[in-house]
Amino acid sequence: MNNIKLFFLLALMLSFITGYAQNNKRIIIETDRTSLILTVGKNGHVYQSYLGERFQNREDNNSAPQGKNAYITGGMDDQFQPAIRITHADGNPSLDLVYVDQKVNNPDAASTETVVTLKDPQYPVIVKLHYQAYAHEDVIKSWTEIINNEKGTITLNDYASSMLHFDAESYWLTQFHGDWAYEMQMQESKLTSGIKEIDSKLGTRANMYQSPMFLLSLNKLSDENTGEVIAGTLAWTGNFRFHFEQDQNNSLRVVSGINPYASAYQLTAGKTFTTPAFIFTYSANGRGQVSRNLHTWARNHDVMDGNGSRLVLLNNWETTKFDFNEQQLNGMLDNTVKIGADLFLLDDGWFGNKYPRSDDKTALGDWQPTQNKLPNGIGNLIKQAKAKGTKFGIWIEPEMVNPKSELYEKHPDWILKLPNRAENYYRNQLVLDLTNPKVADFVFRTMDELIEKNQGLAFIKWDCNRLMTNTWSAHLKDKQSNLFVYYVQSFYNILKRLRAKHPQLPIMLCSGGGARTDYEALKYFTEFWASDDTDPVERVYIQWGYSNFFPANTVACHVTSWGKQSLKFRTDVAMMGKLGYDIDVNKMTPNELVFTQQAIKNYKRLSNVIWRGDIYRLISPYEANRAVLMYVDSTKTKAVLFNYNLNIREREQVNRVRLQGLNPQAKYKIEETNLMPGTKAILTDNGRTFTGDYLMKVGLDLNNWHLKALTSSVVEITLQ
Ligand code: GLA
Repeated sequence: MNNIKLFFLLALMLSFITGYAQNNKRIIIETDRTSLILTVGKNGHVYQSYLGERFQNREDNNSAPQGKNAYITGGMDDQFQPAIRITHADGNPSLDLVYVDQKVNNPDAASTETVVTLKDPQYPVIVKLHYQAYAHEDVIKSWTEIINNEKGTITLNDYASSMLHFDAESYWLTQFHGDWAYEMQMQESKLTSGIKEIDSKLGTRANMYQSPMFLLSLNKLSDENTGEVIAGTLAWTGNFRFHFEQDQNNSLRVVSGINPYASAYQLTAGKTFTTPAFIFTYSANGRGQVSRNLHTWARNHDVMDGNGSRLVLLNNWETTKFDFNEQQLNGMLDNTVKIGADLFLLDDGWFGNKYPRSDDKTALGDWQPTQNKLPNGIGNLIKQAKAKGTKFGIWIEPEMVNPKSELYEKHPDWILKLPNRAENYYRNQLVLDLTNPKVADFVFRTMDELIEKNQGLAFIKWDCNRLMTNTWSAHLKDKQSNLFVYYVQSFYNILKRLRAKHPQLPIMLCSGGGARTDYEALKYFTEFWASDDTDPVERVYIQWGYSNFFPANTVACHVTSWGKQSLKFRTDVAMMGKLGYDIDVNKMTPNELVFTQQAIKNYKRLSNVIWRGDIYRLISPYEANRAVLMYVDSTKTKAVLFNYNLNIREREQVNRVRLQGLNPQAKYKIEETNLMPGTKAILTDNGRTFTGDYLMKVGLDLNNWHLKALTSSVVEITLQ
């Protein structure tokens, strides 16, 4: 071989080793099954060349076409929605971003972080694209840093966390929408040319109408086990926006981030703005897999105590509302012990003295126990709970204030409200101005003192019932357009301070039902309240929606008296998530009491599978008159199946249900559990043993001709 040939051969080898091909530098972000390939073009721009299943041969990484600009800037030549659009200190409304370098870090043993640094050749503005890839769970978390090294303030008009491009025949969007008591309803539509946006402008109670998550199916509508699908969600407890735009060539861009509505962010000289994370996962085998990816990732990484255990609680809200006294609460503590729950949760109505909280019109902000209602304070209730062998938790809504409160009288300027306009109320309340450090400190101290003064307090429910409208901050003066972002950042800072002092305490996040459900909040909260609607039929749909994104131990589901269904049906439905009770135990029949005691024992026996298992949604309530799902533990030794007959008809033809996720070689015993005392299992083959293969190929006859609407069963599947 002559020298010239040798030189070319070496150069070619080097190009593969270093990822260079055709003079293009490749940036490979990959998990066990997915890759996102970026390419640095000859012009220095960075392009998204590929997103999908990993190639079997690594050389193919270098064959991917250049693709579309990975983080499109506004004001230059692009004709559609940019990822970033800024106005420089000198008023120039354009940004150009060229590649500087890429760095790879290992923030922990489970993930690899690639940071791609870009800069404007003419202006000292730097943008860093972060991609944290979790190999095992197939999840990629991406966010952006924008660094202003100019001498003056720049304005961020758009500042996406992520931009992704797709080239498919067709695109199907599954969104999760709703309202109070109607959360997470799934709606699917084929995208057409032009724009579809899902967003929130509601600030505090941000996802009351739309939730910050979506499924995007490519080429055809995916189902549980087939089809290409991306699940995406924004880790931000505030205004969000997902922008889907299909261009004239049928290419789709998905731009995800904070909603820039009323939020052109003023970034002062020398400062860095960090966007929230957009978390996504891809599967070529349907949406069941993307749920399992997200659940495993969430438990292992971004949920507070994600693999830990959760408390079964008894709440008083549905039984008493605001009307209770110490004696009644003592009775409820006894009932907590009686049913075998772990904790009693005292809800709204325990605070306020000048204006006692006897309805929702007064006292938010005055977080002292009402003396004539609770003469011995919270401490005494904690003591009583301990003496009875149980635990005590409490509700609070620390970001809010009623105009009828001492806090409002003392600090009228601590409130978000418009100047020169009448005050605007929603549930008779106003939002505190967390952008003001004094107010943020007050909220932190309120929480800290509640915990410190009441040693032994074992649980908190943090509520947030008002959304933001008529919003203006006396503190922010001419920086009003930073308000929505500052508010959420301040909320996180309070939580950081709180968690630094009280790292273990379980806290549930609630927002007039489930209007705050995102993965940034879940770094600080162990669970969220899914909906105020606890009618089990409605709950099947709501919980089905959440199950796409959140593991069962984060979705609080309580047995209440909503709906006319049997207690068994209500219990079986609540058991698919994090079980709790909000029911008058005194009104239970003796049979119902025995059933409840046994159900809690069953739940504790099965909770490892429910909380930490892999979910398989077998029959969707959106497609049939019933819903069936199962969880399988990681070792495939135990599974639990939930079967809910909704408006099923008595002569309806229903097939056996084929199970999933089992070990085909292994033998499993199937047993119906959670039976009402004195009733028999309806499961055909109850008590028999089958191979996993048979159960997955032939399946179970769950109803045995007992087709009755609003009935249910729970089946335990145990390796023999
Ligand atoms: C919200 C919550 C409920 C309950 C009430 C109390 O609506 O979602 O669970 O705590 O507030 O006022």
